[in-house]
Amino acid sequence: MGRIKDIRPLKWTEEVLLLIDQRKLPLQEEWVECKSYEDVAKAIEDMVVRGAPAIGVVAAYGVVLGAKEAAKSSENLMDFKARVELIINRLAATRPTAVNLFWALKRMRRILEAGGNIEDVVAALETEAINIERQDVETNKKIGFFGAELLSSKEVILTHCNTGALATAGYGTALGVIRAAVENGKDVTVYVDETRPYLQGARLTAWELQQEGIPYYLITDNMAGWFMSLGEITCVIVGADRIARNGDTANKIGTYSLSVLAKEHGIPFYIAAPTSTFDLSISSGKEIPIEERSADEVVFCHCKDCRIAPYGAKVKNPAFDVTPHENITGIITEKGVIHSPDEKKILEFFRE
Ligand code: MRU
Repeated sequence: MGRIKDIRPLKWTEEVLLLIDQRKLPLQEEWVECKSYEDVAKAIEDMVVRGAPAIGVVAAYGVVLGAKEAAKSSENLMDFKARVELIINRLAATRPTAVNLFWALKRMRRILEAGGNIEDVVAALETEAINIERQDVETNKKIGFFGAELLSSKEVILTHCNTGALATAGYGTALGVIRAAVENGKDVTVYVDETRPYLQGARLTAWELQQEGIPYYLITDNMAGWFMSLGEITCVIVGADRIARNGDTANKIGTYSLSVLAKEHGIPFYIAAPTSTFDLSISSGKEIPIEERSADEVVFCHCKDCRIAPYGAKVKNPAFDVTPHENITGIITEKGVIHSPDEKKILEFFRE
């Protein structure tokens, strides 16, 4: 078994934010330099960086880069704050579904609104972004701890998309549970859904597992039900982009189908996510905005740029779907597990 590695998708250097280019993995390991907030916004839109917690962390650094730029040309504090507010709005417009983005930007806005001169505010914004990054890794390790406790000594875990170090500031959520289980000496094998159309499973999750020597099989999405019917899967663990007050959970397209299959086969289906992924302002998954992405992701093979569908093919490409809370065995957070989640249990959990 390989050693658990400390994969990090971003590096902050005060002037520049470096991001591992997740579009190029697993074939090339290249880093993209973001020198302005606009570079960061584009990196989120273009999927250089993706994954709910990661885009929140990166957007926070985008605000810092923007604030440093604005500080140079602002006439006074009011002017500076107005400029940074526009920068926050630009970063908020990059991707609509993952609520962690808005959660992180809200934290940054709170700092902006607090007192101090321009220099103090810039320094406080930078400290806050560094805290958001550091806390995300700590949070993920706690999620891993609570998740690993749910697992028996031998598990075959099916996962979807990429919820690993690459999708966060480090360690991962659902993949963090897998890491923690392995660190605790459990015998874990992972079935990785390739995750059409963007192939986050095949390209990123398989890469992370391989780096760590955690045994896995890569399968195409349409194989999951078959392996469940053969009794090969003991549990499903996935991440989340936004969880409504009643527990309905938006995650990568294909998650809903997996939840239905797991229910049919009596297999536990867990969501692993930080509390920052909850959106208590919405009552159900019906209110979660689902991002529609480019048809090109469906009609072109991602890695080779070769077309796989006829010209003129009409395409639908929702990036996420919503799993009803009735299909979820438990939501694993950094503060513990919410079993059979519903509105009452979630509100109680947050009250505590
Ligand atoms: O479109 P992506 O790659 O950003 O989607 C990512 C997912 O759906 C993940 O499962 C989710 O963000 C959780 S990541 C810890």
